[in-house]
Amino acid sequence: MIYFDNAATSWPKPPGVVEAMVHFMEQVGANPGRAAHRRAVESGRIVYEAREAVCELFHAPDPLRVVWSKNVTEALNLALRGLLRAGDHVVTSSMEHNSVMRPLRALERSGIEVTVVPCSAQGVLNPADVEQAVRPHTRLVALNHASNVVGTLLPVAEVGAICREHEVLLLVDAAQTGGAYPIDVQADQVDLFGFTGHKSLGGPMGTGGLIVGERVDERQMEPLMRGGTGSHSEYELQPDFLPDVYESGTLNAVGLAGLRAGVRWVLSQSVDRIRAHEVALTQRLIDGLRSLPSVIVYGTLSADLQIATVSFNIVGTESSEVGLRLDDEYGILCRVGLHCAPAAHKTIGTFPDGTVRFGLNGFNTIDEVETALVAVEELAREVQ
Ligand SMILES: Cc1ncc(COP(=O)(O)O)c(C=O)c1O
Repeated sequence: MIYFDNAATSWPKPPGVVEAMVHFMEQVGANPGRAAHRRAVESGRIVYEAREAVCELFHAPDPLRVVWSKNVTEALNLALRGLLRAGDHVVTSSMEHNSVMRPLRALERSGIEVTVVPCSAQGVLNPADVEQAVRPHTRLVALNHASNVVGTLLPVAEVGAICREHEVLLLVDAAQTGGAYPIDVQADQVDLFGFTGHKSLGGPMGTGGLIVGERVDERQMEPLMRGGTGSHSEYELQPDFLPDVYESGTLNAVGLAGLRAGVRWVLSQSVDRIRAHEVALTQRLIDGLRSLPSVIVYGTLSADLQIATVSFNIVGTESSEVGLRLDDEYGILCRVGLHCAPAAHKTIGTFPDGTVRFGLNGFNTIDEVETALVAVEELAREVQ
């Protein structure tokens, strides 16, 4: 079996992740921040160390500015729905996932203006186009860091500089890059940074978060939920300090134990090393697919400009059929269709049929890439 569906969720998890979760369930078990007994203190320590690990990986200003959520979708909703008010203007790109597009389309109905800046057919965003879209009432620019369809990296640092100049906040959806591409939220001037735990961070599903930068006033960004936080329990009003203001209800501590192990593993390997391996696999995959007659590969076709996610089609064959046959006949697991990003497919010209997507990560090998190329070649030969 070859697992090429890492853009949806990563598998296998790094060494130590499953063990950390089993240890939590068997040896810790208590609710973090809800009691003073030894097990609750240990649970709280694990959760705090997970914040520290995330803070170190992304160069966040302070572990207490790492707010947990159940995935990046929740983190993005918190930022978008928490910040934007009627009369505000927001700029986004045409390569966004529905986790940004759908909240924005809903907010449009409450009087928030949305500008979608078109990207090229390769998924490339020109920062000058973002600058041109900024108006006096623009409050936020929301961008993904890399497309989950073609893998193209968006120019986050350049847009960060533009946002500072115009006093606009920048929200980045790092679902596809966290743990796979070097990120420094302070150097890149990212104000709100959403990450998901279950992809290249190596954690389990049900984990993710939002890094809230120092330019964001937590009293101005409304929480999605209010409730028990374990802090200031004498008050019926929600605490207004980070991270508690956004973390009501019991945390997924067992998941965060796994995420802590996953992020520590990424740190121990170094993102640069993981990235170098992924670039090598990606370029070989792109070159191999491009050399096959009847195969169209989308995106920049340069591994340096993208992450390890590659979309293609076999001319005359539906992506769903290719995906089924890759699974049934070759044991290759991938994802087909629209990948929750219809706008991105409109941009690259593959809407509504979609693409076959190979999502690789650091655990994949060059041998797996070569095997997959032979499989695609055999399928493509049938339609010639
Ligand atoms: C670019 C992008 N944004 C958001 C998401 C949503 O991630 P999650 O389901 O973990 O919230 C994904 C998931 O595939 C993604 O690729």
